[in-house]
Amino acid sequence: MQSFTDLVAQFEHRFTTTLPFPESPATIYDPCRYLLALGGKRIRPVVCLMANELFMEINEDAWHAAIGVELFHNFTLIHDDIMDKAPLRRGQPTIHAKYGLTSGILCGDIMGIYAYHSLANIDTALQPVMQLFNKTAIEVCEGQQLDMDFETRMDVTLDEYIHMITLKTSVLLACSLKMGALVSGALGDSANKLYEFGKNMGIAFQLQDDYLDAYGVAEVIGKQNGGDILANKKTFLLVKALQNADASQRKQIEDLLNSSADDKVKSMLALFSATGADVLCRDLVAHYSHLAFQSLDDVAIPSKRKQPLLELAQFLLQREK
Ligand code: IPE
Ligand code: IPE
Ligand code: MG
Ligand code: MG
Ligand code: MG
Repeated sequence: MQSFTDLVAQFEHRFTTTLPFPESPATIYDPCRYLLALGGKRIRPVVCLMANELFMEINEDAWHAAIGVELFHNFTLIHDDIMDKAPLRRGQPTIHAKYGLTSGILCGDIMGIYAYHSLANIDTALQPVMQLFNKTAIEVCEGQQLDMDFETRMDVTLDEYIHMITLKTSVLLACSLKMGALVSGALGDSANKLYEFGKNMGIAFQLQDDYLDAYGVAEVIGKQNGGDILANKKTFLLVKALQNADASQRKQIEDLLNSSADDKVKSMLALFSATGADVLCRDLVAHYSHLAFQSLDDVAIPSKRKQPLLELAQFLLQREK
């Protein structure tokens, strides 16, 4: 079994040397190459490869799936940054900030289409893989729309928040794992248990993403600090702060949501801490990580083979970017 570090290195090599983009028109492909060259953690492709390796030596189909899912992920990031008005991604200007809005729209579109281009090379279980992938892609868009709808709502419940992040983030991780299993020929129970593992890990992952957006170090996360606060995103932190706030704290939060004062981020962070939302966010990351470990335990494969996935889930729990 190969470690996360080994698989990232192999993926990086294959991904960058087999990118399907032609030279021309450079105005569409240069921005695509720009974003992909900025790296990223490559979690989705690597879990796809790891899931495949649970059952066999990594096969070509798993590589096609891994490349497809990473391209799809990058497509979602390009459009997400437009929707979130984000200036920075992976420590550099976002595509729309650097090349303009129309480039952002079209580069995102074409990246999504190249994702399908890669998946179309799969031999084993192509139909179930495509059904799963299409369902997932639709869910991601639905989750992204809920995320936008929630910006202007004040009554988002914790359940609604978990539903939204399950759609926008966790199903893609779950799908990556299940695709790795499906293209090995593994069907049914194991593939479904891996999906559950990915779903719980994905929820923990997005909770941690929300936490880092607020409390992370900008140079490390490579994104604008407090971007979620500036956009009035109903992150776990804000949903929980509103839930726990007394009357005076609630009034302060509401005033801040309507404000564009320079100290908006700082003041909101103080309210997150005062209402205990920051600590509860860490607790919920731990809770969903625990559920993820349990789901992984349920996959009927010797535990030694599952070690890399376990280590990756543990790493994500501690991550600072
Ligand atoms: C960012 O995903 C989008 C979310 C779902 C939170 P990653 O944190 O995996 O982004 P990269 O690919 O490593 O940059
Ligand atoms: C993004 O959630 C989820 C998708 C890209 C589908 P965020 O908006 O929190 O992701 P970041 O923080 O910009 O990476
Ligand atoms: Mg965003
Ligand atoms: Mg977003
Ligand atoms: Mg975020």
